[in-house]
Amino acid sequence: MTLTTSTTTDATSVQDKLDQYWSGRATAYDAYQVGGERYALDRAAWADVWSSALPTAPADVLDVGTGSGYVATLLAGLGHRVTGLDSAEGMLERARDHADRLTGDDRPAPRFVRGDAVDPAATPQVEEGAFDAVVSRYVLWTLRDADVAVQRWIRLLRPGGLVACVDATWYPEGIRPEAGHGEEVETTEGPGAFARAYDAEVQAALPLAAAHTMEDAADLFRAAGLEDVTLTRLDALLELDERFGVAPGHEVRPQYLVTGRRP
Ligand SMILES: C[S@@+](CC[C@H](N)C(=O)[O-])C[C@H]1O[C@@H](n2cnc3c(N)ncnc32)[C@H](O)[C@@H]1O
Repeated sequence: MTLTTSTTTDATSVQDKLDQYWSGRATAYDAYQVGGERYALDRAAWADVWSSALPTAPADVLDVGTGSGYVATLLAGLGHRVTGLDSAEGMLERARDHADRLTGDDRPAPRFVRGDAVDPAATPQVEEGAFDAVVSRYVLWTLRDADVAVQRWIRLLRPGGLVACVDATWYPEGIRPEAGHGEEVETTEGPGAFARAYDAEVQAALPLAAAHTMEDAADLFRAAGLEDVTLTRLDALLELDERFGVAPGHEVRPQYLVTGRRP
């Protein structure tokens, strides 16, 4: 089922390819994130990142492009009231499967809803003016119409609310079949799924996919109307990546937190 509310068939075609890719990627993506010897250290490092960025719990938080719910469950575990939104049904299935276990501590798990990060308010459970923070991790690079999306995220916030996104410049040379040193990412879609999904049409629709600097994201935040925009390099995450390595098909890259405030 197509979710895009944009009127262009291009947006629908782009998002359908992305949804199919991320649904096929969900099981392996999730398994890598929630297993292994890194897991406890990883959760602690991310808890530090989000605790320093977000208002004191409990706050109402929307995690856009929530994927298998890593950030959403972490924030719920910190005591926030969390909604996780994604357009790939496969990812949402994984998120719902282990939401209670990952949230832990008898805190309420996030609610997970299917929707378009470019137009979250088109999803009935996501109301304008109802959130203290809109967050995302590893989504900006793969977001079509990112400028429109951030403008709409601002409308979801209460006055003074925060947009806080983590990402990196994963593909400064553009996404090519040999991206990730030729190693295949694991998906159910067979060899070459990543390059097939991120074809020329899709890449042309993603303004930040080939960014050379995360300043581009900060500029986009300012242009969308956010104030007090900050860009912070997450050295603790870089250290973990260097120590434990990254998933097949990926490279170690410095990650940044970009924040901005609704006036
Ligand atoms: C790299 S994954 C990141 C998942 C998760 N945020 C995390 O940190 O593990 C990117 C996610 O963005 C989602 N996504 C991409 N475009 C989207 C859109 N327009 N609306 C909703 N979700 C989207 C994908 O389905 C995928 O789950």
